[in-house]
Amino acid sequence: MSKVQVAPSILSADFARLGEEVSAIADAGADYIHVDVMDGHFVPNLTIGPNVVKAIRSVTDRPFDVHLMISPIDSYIDAFVDAGADILTVHPEAGPHLHRTIQHIKSAGIKAGVALNPATPASAVEFVLDQVDLVLVMSVNPGFGGQKFIPSQLKKIEAVRKMIDLSGRDIRLEVDGGITPETAPQAIEAGADMLVAGSAVFKDGPQSYAANIAALRPGG
Ligand code: DX5
Ligand code: ZN
Repeated sequence: MSKVQVAPSILSADFARLGEEVSAIADAGADYIHVDVMDGHFVPNLTIGPNVVKAIRSVTDRPFDVHLMISPIDSYIDAFVDAGADILTVHPEAGPHLHRTIQHIKSAGIKAGVALNPATPASAVEFVLDQVDLVLVMSVNPGFGGQKFIPSQLKKIEAVRKMIDLSGRDIRLEVDGGITPETAPQAIEAGADMLVAGSAVFKDGPQSYAANIAALRPGG
């Protein structure tokens, strides 16, 4: 397992000062910038599109981990690649052909991830594991920040960790939703090596971002 990395979700940032917020979390030690894209259809919320991703791309050189909660998915891939995404993560339920969607992302020369909703089994990723760079286990139902971690997802993290280790491939195991200094150690213990956190990072304003990020790391 690789070193644990933290990907703050800008969903909890102050959108009126989005550029400054991205730059502040990068300075505070974020390993990735996690961007939650929601379409009001696949999930019951609307957030941002490729234009905003493009606008904040110039603010930092940290990799952009873009979580697409949109359906149908395929016609939007190129726009997010062009906007500067480094990783595009998609849900198996968001399109009819997950393998084809992953190939589309990889053919653009960037990394591809698959996100598993709380009710989606680990096996949904089994036959695309040879193609992906990241598996994202959702520990809340996607759509909103600030929800409670669903403990049953720890078993799924363990199952995905086994699959990744058996594959021998360099694949990140990311967990997203309800990550706090209390739940982060459980997720890491189960096998996660990349933590998404929105409310736990952005609470208390920019002067707290570095401490909030550090508190999520092992021993933090
Ligand atoms: C939920 C998003 C998450 C969310 C995490 O649909 O994918 O990235 O913003 O927020 P917290 O850390 O507040 O649960
Ligand atoms: Zn997310």
